[in-house]
Amino acid sequence: VPTALYASADEASRAVAEEIAALIRQKQSEGASAVLGLATGSTPKKVYAELIRMHRQEGLSFRNVITFNLDEYYSLGPDALQSYHRFMREQLFDQIDIDPAHCHIPDGTLPIQEVYQFCLQYEQHIRELGGLDFQLLGIGRNGHIGFNEPGSHVNSHTRLMTLDQTTRADAATEFGGLANVPRKAITLGIRAIMQAKRVVLLAWGEHKAAIVQQAVEGPVTESVPASYLQGHTNVAFVLDVSCAASLT
Ligand code: F6R
Repeated sequence: VPTALYASADEASRAVAEEIAALIRQKQSEGASAVLGLATGSTPKKVYAELIRMHRQEGLSFRNVITFNLDEYYSLGPDALQSYHRFMREQLFDQIDIDPAHCHIPDGTLPIQEVYQFCLQYEQHIRELGGLDFQLLGIGRNGHIGFNEPGSHVNSHTRLMTLDQTTRADAATEFGGLANVPRKAITLGIRAIMQAKRVVLLAWGEHKAAIVQQAVEGPVTESVPASYLQGHTNVAFVLDVSCAASLT
């Protein structure tokens, strides 16, 4: 798996934002849309900040951009403090010229009997637009991508996933205690991630070094869903030096 190492997360984030901007401009010049798969969490924040800067200072327009987020907690409303709807509005959407109708995030408020159909439609919508041109990913300490937890099949579809204990523990502070962390989330499946034309996984810091080493150099296994990316033909792991420390 190709890895790109940077001295800092800032530097790495600028390079990734630059790649996304180049894709958007390329599509603009063709009169086409750029279909982006987006992630939340602490890792991609600087990429979004850099895209906002490019919008303000370099005239980068998002009018031809269509986005699909990876996941949302179930059940969490779009205005809840920890909701990924809110995260995306605050970290990106409200600060650029994207059409809100072009921004898709799994709906965490659906009645349970409607979730299956919603998930089918979410994937169908991506396919109708010609697939994801670019998928941005973070990685959980347990190797999850999106909320595809260990045990997820390589062909898994978009679905309601029961969150791992590690995942819930890592979110505990944000939710003011483990008991408040949702037990489930809707996540884009591994299959749709693997079908993206380009995948960029970001990871910063020592606490991710061990799992990144397993994902990049270990066996391809359902115990480390990020290891499936070894089978993608156009993927990059973008790391800062401390995160790359365990790589041989
Ligand atoms: C978020 C997502 C998750 C995170 C991962 C890392 O949309 O899909 O897989 O990317 O849990 O989270 P941070 O970046 O907060 O360490």
